[in-house]
Amino acid sequence: MPETEGPTRLWGGRFAGGPAEALARLSVSVHFDWRLAPYDIAASRAHARVLAGAGLLDADELGQMLAALDDLESACAAGEFRPTVEDEDVHTALERGLLERLGTLGGKLRAGRSRNDQVATDLRMYLRDHARGVAAAVVELADALLEQAGRHLDTPAPGMTHLQHAQPVSFGHWLLAHVQPLLRDLDRLRDWDARTAISPLGSGALAGSSLPLDPGAVAKELGFKAPAQNSMDAVSDRDFVAEFLFITGLIGVHLSRLGEEVVLWTSQEFGWVILDDAFATGSSIMPQKKNADIAELARGKAGRLIGGLVAVLTMLKGLPLTYDRDMQEDKEPAFDAIDTLQLLLPALAGMISTMTVRVDRLAAAAPVGFSLATEVADWLVRRHVPFRDAHEITGRLVALCAARECELEDVSDEDLKTVSEHLDPSVREVLSVRSALAARTTAGSTGPGPVADQLQTASDKLDGWREWSIESVVPR
Ligand code: ARG
Repeated sequence: MPETEGPTRLWGGRFAGGPAEALARLSVSVHFDWRLAPYDIAASRAHARVLAGAGLLDADELGQMLAALDDLESACAAGEFRPTVEDEDVHTALERGLLERLGTLGGKLRAGRSRNDQVATDLRMYLRDHARGVAAAVVELADALLEQAGRHLDTPAPGMTHLQHAQPVSFGHWLLAHVQPLLRDLDRLRDWDARTAISPLGSGALAGSSLPLDPGAVAKELGFKAPAQNSMDAVSDRDFVAEFLFITGLIGVHLSRLGEEVVLWTSQEFGWVILDDAFATGSSIMPQKKNADIAELARGKAGRLIGGLVAVLTMLKGLPLTYDRDMQEDKEPAFDAIDTLQLLLPALAGMISTMTVRVDRLAAAAPVGFSLATEVADWLVRRHVPFRDAHEITGRLVALCAARECELEDVSDEDLKTVSEHLDPSVREVLSVRSALAARTTAGSTGPGPVADQLQTASDKLDGWREWSIESVVPR
């Protein structure tokens, strides 16, 4: 019986009949793994060359094979070749495409190769490629934050701990505090990429191949650093998926924290930021409403990003080596993470770069809640009062002000003396937000000098990422 008759199945010789409808419907993955097609074809090209090198395809057959793969690739890209309901997965669909083009010659390509090493290879390539797209979108958001930060290096704001006014900070410093996690996320992606650049192809189903393949050559052609050291590990390992999902989950967490702050900042109670109309939404019933839906979706989508990581870790836990079909569940969370971030990051970048910061409201809020109290304590320390006592003295001063409903600088000279013999009117020099900011000159603090340095360093780092993010994983 010719192998190519009826629906293409990559197995069947030992089966009496076709699969039950319910099995076929459960088993099918082509509706989501079809996006691996370009990578599967690139891997097929490399494999065809290796088969030719091993004398398993002659020069003419290799020529036909490569031409058919090129043709199939264009047909896929143009949407002319599509998977059908009969195709179990991307590998099955593409083998059908090859058989349609080459007849029985198409059946030679599968020698020495299994879907187990293929799918692991395809997914590594796909994720390495798309990690760069995610990085580019992260850079775009970081750029937007940097640009806003640059406008507000010396805009004072009430820095908070426990969501209570703590100490004045520069709003630029605050915005840059959201850039730092993104820079770490970018670092994480590059570290992850280096670990992921290992090629499983040549591992076959689990044991390698008895055919004289050349995993090193395949690895090189597909942009990997090296072939896998252990064929059993190579087809079992999904660390690269879990680790990728940890990074995207953590990006989600970072975006959710930024999102939550924007929700607060745009509230009536804060009133620090006004969103551009193009990046806000209205209400279907309340005509006055302007909502920060992008920020809320940033908060909300962290849930699915974290969920993807949990799903994959749970799926992998306790799996025996080597390949198990459970592992087919690795792809949707990874694809969803990429899709989610590709929707979210540009929207957040647009929202941040177009928002208007209400400098007047921020500046007015900065000293509220006795946020300059630490300046008094530090002033006392500079006069050699032990900090423990300085803290007590300043606490008494704050209590006095709270009772009198006045600000720290409004306390009379007499009252200062009553609070402590160490206090005198010159303490008022430190009782301004400006002086509090200006006094912070050490690396990483919120004074204008260090914040400008931080902005420069962050911007230099981002420049380094731009190139990486557009680099192509598979050399053409
Ligand atoms: N669709 C499968 C997956 O994503 C491909 C590998 C199937 N291998 C197998 N032996 N059934 O994991």
